[in-house]
Amino acid sequence: MPDHLIHAYQPLPVHFASGAGCYLKDGDDREYLDGLCGISVTSLGHAHPAVTRAIQQQAATLLHTSNLYSIGWQQKLASLLCETASMDRVFFANSGAEANEAAIKLARLYGHRRGIDNPQIIVMENAFHGRTMATLSATGSRKVQAGFEPLVAGFVRAPYDDITSIEAIAANNRNVVAILLEPVQGEAGIVIPRQGYLAELRRICDANHWLLMVDEIQSGMARSGKLFAHQHEMILPDVMTLAKALGNGVPIGACIAAGPAADVFQPGNHGSTFGGNPLACRAAYSTLQTMIEDDIAANAAARGAQLASLLARELADNPKVAEIRHLGLLLAVEMTEACQPIVELALEQRLLINVTAGKVVRILPPLIMDADQTDELGRRLVTAIRQFTD
Ligand SMILES: Cc1ncc(COP(=O)(O)O)c(C=O)c1O
Repeated sequence: MPDHLIHAYQPLPVHFASGAGCYLKDGDDREYLDGLCGISVTSLGHAHPAVTRAIQQQAATLLHTSNLYSIGWQQKLASLLCETASMDRVFFANSGAEANEAAIKLARLYGHRRGIDNPQIIVMENAFHGRTMATLSATGSRKVQAGFEPLVAGFVRAPYDDITSIEAIAANNRNVVAILLEPVQGEAGIVIPRQGYLAELRRICDANHWLLMVDEIQSGMARSGKLFAHQHEMILPDVMTLAKALGNGVPIGACIAAGPAADVFQPGNHGSTFGGNPLACRAAYSTLQTMIEDDIAANAAARGAQLASLLARELADNPKVAEIRHLGLLLAVEMTEACQPIVELALEQRLLINVTAGKVVRILPPLIMDADQTDELGRRLVTAIRQFTD
């Protein structure tokens, strides 16, 4: 078949025909263990019965009406999100980048309302926030930005997990209105800041009337072992963005706000044709409800600890393994050298994983994995890594 796709991607030589739970089947009926969840999306596994039922029922009832009319499932989902996150209001989008666009616009408007004409947002080195013009400008990666200049202005860059640099910016820059950061940096290679970092950022934001905005697009929805990764510290953000696992595969993004931030957008300030449509919201409601009822976060914490200790045990004497780190089922094996070939070696083991930041093997498996599946994932991964290093 002639290839009519724009070459934005370089897909692996496999396509999947179906999925059930933690497994996918290719066109030849071969089964693969999904250790990536479509990059942290299908966290409840494939064809989850409750989510499938919700999608089927809603598809047969009503797909779309637009935000010109109120949408019942949007209200229900917003209430459940706000209750679980202890926040106040939600704007629904269709993707992570769009959720972050909403957060960036919200922060700028918040600044203008406070009389700051040139509002600046502090963003982090090695951050990833998306591929739209504003979010790629907020992203801390030259690879993502190169060729797309001029970038969107209004971002101040700081090193991640470094309070001193934030304090220095606070002392010198009167135009800052917000900090935007990932509680765990995903694309950068599962970089976990030290405990207390978010609490210190919260303190600085409060002292300067800045908004603390957490991008939980990859780290949220139970993956870190808590429903939201910032809940590992006793803080509340002003803004949180979600997408990826929120709809377990149905595209949806959310920009959630609390306190004064929740009343910044007024009618006419922002919008989306598809954002928050009945199908996406019902799928997300079912996903979040299942995660709460089944305490999926506790399973993510237990399986993450199990997998990390299996990998530490089996790879301890491997000189090319630099570090194994995890928070729940955000898990990384950092190698001492570039290691992209491990992806194809894992594929031969019928295991889906990914390499990010050049030398970090990233594992983002389904949060519903049981102990046996976790062992199986660990064994297949160890085999692939040994084939690469030996
Ligand atoms: C932390 C984070 N923010 C934003 C995004 C962008 O999300 P999307 O690809 O849905 O636009 C991603 C995607 O990888 C992400 O990991």
